[in-house]
Amino acid sequence: MALIAEKYAEEIEGILKRFPDKKSAVLPLMHLAQQAYGHMSREAMQEVADILEISPTHVLALSGFYSLYYEEPVGKYVLEICNDLACALRGADEFVEMVCHKLGVPVDGTTADGLFTVKTVMCLGACDRAPMLQCNLKFEEHLDEEKFDQLIARLRAEAESGKEEPSVVEKIMAYAKS
Ligand code: FES
Repeated sequence: MALIAEKYAEEIEGILKRFPDKKSAVLPLMHLAQQAYGHMSREAMQEVADILEISPTHVLALSGFYSLYYEEPVGKYVLEICNDLACALRGADEFVEMVCHKLGVPVDGTTADGLFTVKTVMCLGACDRAPMLQCNLKFEEHLDEEKFDQLIARLRAEAESGKEEPSVVEKIMAYAKS
């Protein structure tokens, strides 16, 4: 299967043009692959590797290293809560527990409506603003239960209105065509 090549031929060409060595385009291509396949499946990794003429093991290693690549399907909004040491000292573990309880999912679980996936991640560099999370690249900081409820309400309204902020892939696509 060549899903990325079929779906994003123009974008791939635009991205590859910007790198003297096509291997360097691996991260944006992985985002396109994730979008095309729904997650970073083995097929998605293989296709990226084929396009860039690199080893699929290299793509697998990057996918495991960066928290924005998902090897399992995820919801529309991925709530990546930092529970690394500094955040844990500021209540991150209790915050994760509260989030999972409210959404009715375990860590790594996705809500039945497909909207939210809860994940825990290592330090995101906002230790002094914990508890904090990253949702589709956007930081939400100094969180508590009330602010979390407001965030979920805002995201649900956004999803219903269809007026979401541009996704990572949409930004990459615009960049490729600029
Ligand atoms: S430890 Fe959580 S942002 Fe640094």
